[in-house]
Amino acid sequence: MAPGMVSLVLPLLAVTSVALGAKFSPSDLTRKTTFGNTIPNKFIVEVDAAQDIPTKRELDNRRSHDIFYEHLEKRSLGFKVEKEFDSPGLFTGSVLTLDSAQDASKVLAIPGVKAIRPVVLVPPPKQVHVVTGPDDPQVPADGESTHVITGVDKLHAQGISGKGIKIGIIDTGVDYTNPYLGGAFGPGHKVIGGYDFVGDAYGQSNQHCVIEILVLTTFADGTNTPVPDSDPLDQCNGHGSHVAGIIGAEPVNPFNISGVAFDASINAYRIFGCSGSVSDDIIVEALLQGAKDGNNILTLSLGGTDGWTEGTASVIASRISDSGRIVTIAAGNDGSVGSWYTSGPGNGIDAISVASVDNTIIPLQNLTVHGVTHDPITYFSALPLPVEGTLPIYATSTDVTVADDACNPLPDSTPDLSKYVVLVRRGSCTFVQKLTNVAAKGGNVTLIYDNGNGFAGIEVGNFTAVLIQAADGVFLAQQFAAGAPVAVSFPQSGASTNFPSSTGGLVSTFTTYGPTNDFYFKPAVAAPGGNILSTYPVPLGTFAVLSGTSMATPFVAGVSALLFEARGTSPAVGRIARTLFETTAQRVPSSKTDGDPLQTLTQQGAGLIDAFRAIHADVLVSPSELITNDTAHFRGVQTFTVKNQGKDTKTFKISHVPAGTALTFQGGVPADGPVPLSSKAANVKFVPTSFTVHPGQSQRVTVLITPPTGLNASDFPVFSGFLEISNAQESYHVTYLGLAAALKNAQVIDNTDTFFGAKIPAIADASGNFITGPQNFTFNSTDFPSLVARLNFGTPKLRFDLVEPNIKISTTLNRREEDAEKHVFERSLFSFPWGPGSGSFASVKTLGSLYEGDFLPRNSDVNDGTGFNELSFTTPTFANGTTIPDGSYRILLRALKVTGDPTKEGDFESWLSPVIGVQA
Ligand SMILES: *[C@@H]1O[C@H](CO)[C@@H](O)[C@H](O)[C@H]1NC(C)=O
Ligand SMILES: *[C@@H]1O[C@H](CO)[C@@H](O)[C@H](O)[C@H]1NC(C)=O
Ligand SMILES: *[C@@H]1O[C@H](CO)[C@@H](O)[C@H](O)[C@H]1NC(C)=O
Ligand SMILES: *[C@@H]1O[C@H](CO)[C@@H](O)[C@H](O)[C@H]1NC(C)=O
Ligand SMILES: *[C@@H]1O[C@H](CO)[C@@H](O)[C@H](O)[C@H]1NC(C)=O
Ligand SMILES: *[C@@H]1O[C@H](CO)[C@@H](O)[C@H](O)[C@H]1NC(C)=O
Ligand SMILES: *[C@@H]1O[C@H](CO)[C@@H](O)[C@H](O)[C@H]1NC(C)=O
Repeated sequence: MAPGMVSLVLPLLAVTSVALGAKFSPSDLTRKTTFGNTIPNKFIVEVDAAQDIPTKRELDNRRSHDIFYEHLEKRSLGFKVEKEFDSPGLFTGSVLTLDSAQDASKVLAIPGVKAIRPVVLVPPPKQVHVVTGPDDPQVPADGESTHVITGVDKLHAQGISGKGIKIGIIDTGVDYTNPYLGGAFGPGHKVIGGYDFVGDAYGQSNQHCVIEILVLTTFADGTNTPVPDSDPLDQCNGHGSHVAGIIGAEPVNPFNISGVAFDASINAYRIFGCSGSVSDDIIVEALLQGAKDGNNILTLSLGGTDGWTEGTASVIASRISDSGRIVTIAAGNDGSVGSWYTSGPGNGIDAISVASVDNTIIPLQNLTVHGVTHDPITYFSALPLPVEGTLPIYATSTDVTVADDACNPLPDSTPDLSKYVVLVRRGSCTFVQKLTNVAAKGGNVTLIYDNGNGFAGIEVGNFTAVLIQAADGVFLAQQFAAGAPVAVSFPQSGASTNFPSSTGGLVSTFTTYGPTNDFYFKPAVAAPGGNILSTYPVPLGTFAVLSGTSMATPFVAGVSALLFEARGTSPAVGRIARTLFETTAQRVPSSKTDGDPLQTLTQQGAGLIDAFRAIHADVLVSPSELITNDTAHFRGVQTFTVKNQGKDTKTFKISHVPAGTALTFQGGVPADGPVPLSSKAANVKFVPTSFTVHPGQSQRVTVLITPPTGLNASDFPVFSGFLEISNAQESYHVTYLGLAAALKNAQVIDNTDTFFGAKIPAIADASGNFITGPQNFTFNSTDFPSLVARLNFGTPKLRFDLVEPNIKISTTLNRREEDAEKHVFERSLFSFPWGPGSGSFASVKTLGSLYEGDFLPRNSDVNDGTGFNELSFTTPTFANGTTIPDGSYRILLRALKVTGDPTKEGDFESWLSPVIGVQA
């Protein structure tokens, strides 16, 4: 276990009470007719670019798109072209709506087609906490704490500020009317250009991402039709303006903050409306446009649960990186969900995925105490509460240990609270519920004092209320109880304070953990992203404090601009950027307790970026990441090279600095974050252990990595650490990462009753009851089956096939239920080779496919739409739309294990449903 893991900084999670027993109930089922986060029948198809077609006979100056469409027509495949891409070298292809999703495999078989991938939805950037308010001209500088801990202040002092560099921000748009973002739009201004791909009203209607969004009706109501225009202005969302300020805020502003690359030029690509999700074909469009417009850097503070490196936007982001531009993408804010839940397109193999480190300070405000002697009290808001005058305190309880203060309507004896500042203790019910009760008695300004859950931003809806620390609240409540004339005021200027963050300098707990399911090193590097003050749309307050990997990502984009300014914009510089950032980063501990291990590299990446050292490094160590992979594909012997690009001869010694080993599974399921750490580390040997390199010369180092011993493989321990190359003057490091288990042993399909109180997978009827025996369905509006399943781990391939009810087959999961200990597989059920041949899959006779999906992410354990998958058969149809004749059937579910071989029966998990009668 990780001793002294830091406390949660997410107040909303801290107050959520979890019901005992099962986490979900059948009433949580929502009758979705798609599985996963894809849009039905919509695909992105990649075709050969004209120049890649070896014999141009077929081409005769026609576009490869047109040849492809002709092939579709020849095969009588129904399709509609939604969009075309033509970026030779990056991506040539189309977005198609197919008449039948099952035609995807036929499309892939067409000559010249390289790939076909479903269009997936990406949720809006999650904002971990938001504090906004009016502009306060008197607030002092925050000391640029984020710039100080990363060496950006030293680069600014050298006059390096991003001059001549173009950064494309793919986000919610930017409010360039904010004077600190240049005040205007177009050539000559800070925001030189961009595009609005969507318009205000666009937004797939989901809050929680992935599965939740997939109700078909959301696609028919018109709000999801993008309305593009050339103006990326955003005055309704705000996220992109905050991102833009981290890169480019003008240094002369009321807070004296500045962008990391405040002299760089910005192109703003707006791909989110005022709220809601975006489909990834629009991300692809923005990426290709950003590349075409000559941006040196593209930055994306967005992502959706993915787990794999295969998504279209991930693949294209990686190709753009390969071309020598720098692409920075948020790692994600799903740290609480644990490991194996990485986000796309940050998963793009050569993109830079960015983790967040908490700022060392939190910019907050003080209130003044009157009537009794007391120091100013710090309250959790970046900007002063808009409250005038000095107001007496009224405490809703004089008991400073009360558990459920103001959770019930206040007593009749309560005075009119409109002339008071009301004091309430945190706990038991939501803040909004307390404040609603206070408001019922006229109270409109409330201080909530902490009960030990932690001092943080809180969710108070429209109410004027802030959190104060426990001791301050206890003091005010006791003074009130004693009848002292205690009152407070909220200075509108001069009361800003830099509150030291207890988690400052540590990896933000919300940072999503890597690696990907195919074992790529994600995130790459960390930057300040927790409690960041930056610009905001003028109508929304001009400045705001937000937290998220969304904030860390533009920081690295800004550092990338400084790198390009200092070293030139050649593709060679772009290609070594990640290596430079990783090998010079600062290692981050897992807590502030001495003796605790370093944070797992699966959450900190190679450490907190050190912009000054990265840009001025005269030693290039590469590769910067050594991946040993899992035990079944173990590569324990690796090499790296140390190249002296300086003017002096250097002597280095090599040492091993292990990080905590992440125990990514606990009790058969992925461990929630903070993921427990073990101090049992890998053993690493080097040859040579020290050496001298002359200017212009390189030294090769061979490394032998042996996984840690004494750990349980069933915990899927991910070990990681640093190989330090150092002398008294300088130090660099290479990172390594491996798994002390075989990924193939991870159980993909959850077959427990943990989540629903009854075993899944299961078939539910239209009222959400799980059926246990044969059942007939008429497929009217209230009588149809739904398949309910959870993925405990990502899978490269999932299929549901309709089979005969009396099929002779021994499935892994049903068998486990019956014979949990022995795991006997008696017969060889499906054998290889398998192919797209009809009527069977892996030699099991099937009647037709109900669903097929590749590279699916695992589920979370949270009931927000990501916790389980559901596929409702509201009509009796195969995946290709053909009607299933009346009769009796079962559904066979098969999921390929990670690293499994799709031609081997033993690499699939399988489950057979009860008999389903179709009586339509
Ligand atoms: C804010 O209050 C804290 C706690 O009393 C105090 O240490 C700090 O100096 C105050 N800052 C300002 C600017 O008043
Ligand atoms: C609460 O609202 C009322 C009505 O708008 C106003 O008169 C009163 O001053 C407000 N109280 C505070 C504490 O701001
Ligand atoms: C906030 O205020 C708006 C406008 O007055 C209202 O529509 C909305 O319901 C309020 N929200 C909450 C959470 O009270
Ligand atoms: C790890 O091994 C698997 C199985 O061979 C492979 O698919 C994957 O690409 C490897 N990952 C890396 C980062 O090399
Ligand atoms: C389903 O309907 C068929 C045909 O009417 C009937 O033979 C069968 O008994 C029914 N099964 C159940 C479980 O009701
Ligand atoms: C749907 O079919 C079921 C089962 O036959 C029946 O009980 C129910 O009344 C039908 N509902 C409607 C709306 O026709
Ligand atoms: C759809 O799939 C079913 C089951 O595999 C098959 O019998 C049918 O011919 C297919 N229909 C079309 C139009 O391809």
